[in-house]
Amino acid sequence: MEIIKVKNYKEMSRVASEIVVGEMLKKGDIVIGFATGATPLGLYRNLVKAYKKGEVDFSKVKSFNLDEYYPMKGGDKNSYRRYMFRNLFGRVNIKRGNVNLLDGEARDFGKECLDYEKAIKKSPIDLQILGVGANGHIGFNEPGSLKSSRTRLVDLSDDTVKRNSGIFWKAPRKALTMGIGTILSSKKIILLASGKAKARAIGRLMKGKVGADCPVSFLRKHKNLLFISC
Ligand code: GLP
Repeated sequence: MEIIKVKNYKEMSRVASEIVVGEMLKKGDIVIGFATGATPLGLYRNLVKAYKKGEVDFSKVKSFNLDEYYPMKGGDKNSYRRYMFRNLFGRVNIKRGNVNLLDGEARDFGKECLDYEKAIKKSPIDLQILGVGANGHIGFNEPGSLKSSRTRLVDLSDDTVKRNSGIFWKAPRKALTMGIGTILSSKKIILLASGKAKARAIGRLMKGKVGADCPVSFLRKHKNLLFISC
C-alpha cells in the first residue's frame, strides 16, 4: 500500500486528480471505476477543469460505477446515475455508450448483476476510485460482506439507512453493488478518506485483523493500492 497524507480536502482532491489525469494520459482507453458520495466531489471538479483546459480526453474512457440504490429511478435526484451525470459525465466528453451504471430500475436484479460482472470481465477496471463509509463499507459492501463477493443485491445496514435518512423522504434499504471480489480485481485502486468520521474504519485498513466485519480492511492485501487521506 502506498500512502499519501495531505493537509486538507483541497489537497487530497488535487493529488487524486493529478494521479487520475496521469493514468488517463498513459492509457487513453482506460477503464475507470467511479465512486459516489461527498468524498470524490473535489476530484471530479478537478477532472472537469482539466478537461475544459484540454488536458484530458474522455472520448475513449470506459466507466463502471460501484453501486446504486435499489429500487431507484434513474431520474431521481438522489440516484447515483444523476449524481454521476451532474458531477462528471454530463460535463466531459465521455461517450454515453461507454458509461456503465447499475440499473436501480432493473426488474431482474439477478440478471442485471450478472451482466455487470460479465461486462467488467470483458473490460477489466484499470483504476478504481473508492471512498469508505464510516462503518467500513466500500461500495455498498456492508460489514458481513465476503472477500469473494461479486456484484449483487444487498441489504443496507441500519447505520447506513440512518445516515441517509436526512437526504431521502424514505431512505432505501437495499442497493446493487459491485462485490469486494469485483473491487479487488481492479488493477489499481485509489482510496480517498477525509475527516474524523472515517478514522475507525481507516484504523482497520492499516492494522488489526483483515475481515468481513470491516470490509475496507480487505484492501490492505491489494497489490496496487494508493491511499490518500487528510
Ligand atoms: C456511500 C457510497 C460509497 C461511499 C460512501 C462514503 O454509501 N455507496 O461508495 O464511499 O457512501 O460516502 P462519503 O464520501 O459521502 O462519506
